[in-house]
Amino acid sequence: MKPLSLLLTLLTSPLGISALPNPLPQDPTPTPSPPVLPLSSSSRWILDSSSPPKRIKLRCLNWAAHLETNTPEGLHRQSLDYITTWIATQNFNCVRLTFSSDLTFSGPSTPVHTSFTQVSQQQSKPALLNEIYPSIISKNPWITPNTTTLDIFAGVVDSLWSKNIMTILDNHVSKASWCCNLTDGNGWWDTAAGYNPFNSRFFNTGQWLKSLQFMANWAKSHPGVVGMGLRNELRAFLLQDLNGRKDWYTNIQKAGNLVHATNPNLLILVGGAQSSTDLVHLKTKMLDTSGWQGKNVWEMHAYSFTVTFPDPFKNCDLVKAGYGFWSGFVLEQNKPYTGPLIMSEFGVGMQGSDINGQFEGLDEKDHRYLDCLVGYLKGNDAEWAVWAIQGSYYIREGTVDYDETWGLMDHEWKGWRNSKFQAKIGDLYKVTQGP
Ligand SMILES: *[C@@H]1O[C@H](CO)[C@@H](O)[C@H](O)[C@H]1NC(C)=O
Ligand SMILES: *[C@@H]1O[C@H](CO)[C@@H](O)[C@H](O)[C@H]1NC(C)=O
Repeated sequence: MKPLSLLLTLLTSPLGISALPNPLPQDPTPTPSPPVLPLSSSSRWILDSSSPPKRIKLRCLNWAAHLETNTPEGLHRQSLDYITTWIATQNFNCVRLTFSSDLTFSGPSTPVHTSFTQVSQQQSKPALLNEIYPSIISKNPWITPNTTTLDIFAGVVDSLWSKNIMTILDNHVSKASWCCNLTDGNGWWDTAAGYNPFNSRFFNTGQWLKSLQFMANWAKSHPGVVGMGLRNELRAFLLQDLNGRKDWYTNIQKAGNLVHATNPNLLILVGGAQSSTDLVHLKTKMLDTSGWQGKNVWEMHAYSFTVTFPDPFKNCDLVKAGYGFWSGFVLEQNKPYTGPLIMSEFGVGMQGSDINGQFEGLDEKDHRYLDCLVGYLKGNDAEWAVWAIQGSYYIREGTVDYDETWGLMDHEWKGWRNSKFQAKIGDLYKVTQGP
């Protein structure tokens, strides 16, 4: 999640390819039965292991677990079972679960209680330990004084999988904290050209690789994990990306090879530069994905603030051409870069003003953005993960029990924050194409 406008604008020609491969109408209902794992990619599709293989369309939500406590959010408001049941009954089939590299260094053997104690002290927020932690225990008595942060990840992933919900682990940041801005130190590899401490001071390349390896290995004993996002929203700053994306190619290839060698079952999700909005360089030079053949999936993010025109969504065709030009082109078949594409972050604030009455609680610009984006994804029948389930956080940016106005769930994690949102994105659930 990147609450900043990108420098990126619609520098695309309106003739940019909008990637509409031949539609082959298929089973219009979402997959009702559990997927047969592992998953793989073939052309632009994600397939399961049944025989013959079936297309799996990923319909995911994001679930934050990368903030300071290294604990998946929400357990102070509801039981784990309540939350995962809600996800399953709302017809999602997967969760993009975010984690920090920190989790695997300080975190895995750290009891949750210790983690909350430390963050509470570091940030001088006694309420985190004295109020939030006890409510986690009271809602989730399965958490004991010995339960570690990684045990909670296991609890989440296994509970989801018991309900046929798959998990994609997403390496979201290095230093556990809210993401992403150009000075948070998590943006671009510290070993890359043009070192810039503001953007890279926490992004230790070696630790990042170890962290991916650790989680890929861990996932072997948690069968619901179907994929690994190598890094969320890579973003260079100032002089960091002036070498033809050399550092991107080098590091992504290393990470993909390592994750695949560690756990060959996982899909490998690769986002572009400029905060996962820009894969344009693949048109001239394909990434060497031979180390994880049949597993590669591209990632793309798009928010209403991703484009900086006053209101570009007044011309949806132009926006769609931009999506196609920057990222969507990877869906074109029979190209070196052809692969499945997951829009792994998009979303809106749920509490805007009611301007046109068609969708209460959404600003007019967000309303147009969402219509345009849903139209684009529907036309391409792409995979997706909406940002984000969390209605509140244990602590975010120094605020205890922070209210997330973008949350799919309300502050109490009881149900939809905006009852009309799901219908608004309803077209995304449909499967309209297939291999
Ligand atoms: C926690 O761990 C300690 C030491 O391993 C053990 O003695 C104790 O029984 C454990 N407590 C619980 C509640 O599991
Ligand atoms: C950027 O993020 C860091 C870490 O979350 C935070 O400390 C800083 O205040 C943020 N800067 C801006 C301009 O929001």
